[in-house]
Amino acid sequence: MVISSILDYAHTLAGRAIDEGGLAVDATVGNGHDTAFLARAVGPSGTVVGFDVQEAALTAARQRLEAEGLEGTVRLVHAGHQTLAHELGGTERGEVDAIMFNLGYLPGGDHTVTTRPETTRQALEAGAKELRHGGVLTVVVYTGHDGGEAEAQAVEAWVSALPQNRFRALSYQFSNWSNDPPRLFAVEKRGDT
Ligand SMILES: C[S@@+](CC[C@H](N)C(=O)[O-])C[C@H]1O[C@@H](n2cnc3c(N)ncnc32)[C@H](O)[C@@H]1O
Repeated sequence: MVISSILDYAHTLAGRAIDEGGLAVDATVGNGHDTAFLARAVGPSGTVVGFDVQEAALTAARQRLEAEGLEGTVRLVHAGHQTLAHELGGTERGEVDAIMFNLGYLPGGDHTVTTRPETTRQALEAGAKELRHGGVLTVVVYTGHDGGEAEAQAVEAWVSALPQNRFRALSYQFSNWSNDPPRLFAVEKRGDT
């Protein structure tokens, strides 16, 4: 397949920004697919910090990481991603290679527990400060569930307002999907600022 899926393209972009031994953040751990990807990308000398508000998600993710021998690289935080700045030390040092958001609800879990526009926006704001120059932040948004459309609009508004001289931003979406196609936003902190 020449054209990547939304999730594969998010991995491609995040992976390009990650150095061996680097620091990456999974802002929505869920079942841990992205966390495991980030852990493999930073390697055994790197660090991944992952956030989720649901113990069920962290348990599933922990099992996935243990099965792959990746648990030593990952610090799982049972808290919302709006605590990102606090968990990373609150220093806004700009040391993070990549931050991945995969919004919405936990697949196979409680569909009423979803990410929310206001806390997502807070976490995006904090995440952009923590990115290193050349670092990448990816956000996958879904509109098919209650509140999804409002959250997608909040993310689009935040991304669109990023200053062009400090960030490069794009969106990626299939044009011919009939039902609520997901959308990827990706933001790179420019290296020349
Ligand atoms: C679509 S799932 C993430 C999928 C995951 N990245 C994976 O690879 O399996 C969204 C997750 O966001 C979590 N979530 C909801 N509100 C959150 C918040 N404020 N901070 C962090 N995670 C949150 C949900 O509990 C759910 O597990």
